[in-house]
Amino acid sequence: MALLLSVILSSIIYKGSVSGLSEPPGCTEAWDYVEVRPGAHMFWWLYYAESQAAQYKDLPLVMWLQGGPGGSGTGFGNFEEIGPLNRDLQPRKTSWVQTASLLFVDNPVGTGFSYAERPDGFATDVATVASDMLVLLRHFFTLKSDFQSIPFYIFSESYGGKMAAAISLELTKAIAKGSVKCNFAGVALGDSWISPLDSVMTWGPYLYTTSLLDDYGLADVNNAAQQVKQAVAKQDFLKATELWSVTESVVEQNTNGVNFYNILKQEEDGKLGSSEGESFISLLARRHIYPLHSQSLSELMNGSVRKKLAIIPQNVTWGGQAEEVFSKMAGDFMKPVVDVVDQLLTAGVNVTVYNGQLDLIVDTMGQEMWVKQLKWEGIPSFNKLRWTPLDDPVSPGITGAFYKTYKNFAFYWILKAGHMIPSDQGPMALQMLKMIVHQD
Ligand SMILES: *[C@@H]1O[C@H](CO)[C@@H](O)[C@H](O)[C@H]1NC(C)=O
Ligand SMILES: *[C@@H]1O[C@H](CO)[C@@H](O)[C@H](O)[C@H]1NC(C)=O
Ligand SMILES: *[C@@H]1O[C@H](CO)[C@@H](O)[C@H](O)[C@H]1NC(C)=O
Repeated sequence: MALLLSVILSSIIYKGSVSGLSEPPGCTEAWDYVEVRPGAHMFWWLYYAESQAAQYKDLPLVMWLQGGPGGSGTGFGNFEEIGPLNRDLQPRKTSWVQTASLLFVDNPVGTGFSYAERPDGFATDVATVASDMLVLLRHFFTLKSDFQSIPFYIFSESYGGKMAAAISLELTKAIAKGSVKCNFAGVALGDSWISPLDSVMTWGPYLYTTSLLDDYGLADVNNAAQQVKQAVAKQDFLKATELWSVTESVVEQNTNGVNFYNILKQEEDGKLGSSEGESFISLLARRHIYPLHSQSLSELMNGSVRKKLAIIPQNVTWGGQAEEVFSKMAGDFMKPVVDVVDQLLTAGVNVTVYNGQLDLIVDTMGQEMWVKQLKWEGIPSFNKLRWTPLDDPVSPGITGAFYKTYKNFAFYWILKAGHMIPSDQGPMALQMLKMIVHQD
């Protein structure tokens, strides 16, 4: 109760532009912390939908979950992908805020502006990640009770998809029990780490068919992937995480440092290699956490954004605990959650899978594999359907995506996009959003 009161008292809605951050006129926001467990604080940031045509009450609410784990939705998702402003604080033409209210949450605890006061404050498995989020959502929908009846969608990217699946299942149960009041309308899993082994096992074939491995390289990558498979078969998930990192190094060596997030974007500093004595966790964090914390984004978040928010504790820096978040989850990375997706579908939850053509880390082949293994009764009918092409919204006549839907399941194949689909193909991502939330 005391917790709830303090949430209500400290939650402030800002209108218009605040302390140097130029915002789209009239954009209304709110943000706050929720203490989800003793000493474990989670930060959320809400943007009310800004549409010429409709009130926010007539538009859906979308929660965005970043990957990593350790990537910040309030930072990367907001300023690099779908929020009203880009990293240079210029209005984003393809922002999702004209279509839906946006709720960014820095999860798990320790991500972005979220923080743990003690080492035991971090989550070590997806179950804790989900129960923490349920505490946050219970607070959010109590505080912002006008959102209780608004269709609520969870969109996610990468490891965020694994968390989104688990959260969606817990949320469905909580709504049935009456412990959370919200109008849950569906979950969208973008380039999601649902079946890690299917991703790793398809890296070789994917890279080979895109001219990024020769026959020697293909054999090496497949060999390394087989080791991961054996560790997973033995349920030795920590070992599997270590061998996943080894497989990535084999990929890097054989591809001259391919970019895991978009095979056509090779960056000069893409060749990480492993430095002497570096732990595999630290190497994995460098590969998968640092790209979400560029120098310029860190400066923005730790600078003018933090000043504007005005509630970030002195000793909390944006991203300061990201690597710890990642390392605490190391035993959970390689565990699949395919069964969770099955449970969601069977429970009648609308599930959308969307994937970028140029993504290596979660390549489309791997997604096809676990989708085909689903036990949900609608899968045979889904498999029998042919896909439908969608024009690229900015280039009519040019294919931007394919999609296919059967009952409460849909799949979008997004062309010319890597792992971060809204950054790579903003207009196509926006159109997909509109189709999923029925605002097209
Ligand atoms: C910040 O300082 C407070 C008070 O000293 C301490 O309890 C807390 O653990 C610190 N938080 C972090 C994230 O270091
Ligand atoms: C769920 O999916 C079905 C089938 O595509 C659709 O008719 C329904 O409108 C969707 N519900 C929501 C809330 O999006
Ligand atoms: C926060 O931003 C400052 C610059 O504003 C930077 O020096 C620092 O490294 C950043 N901290 C993190 C954890 O990114």
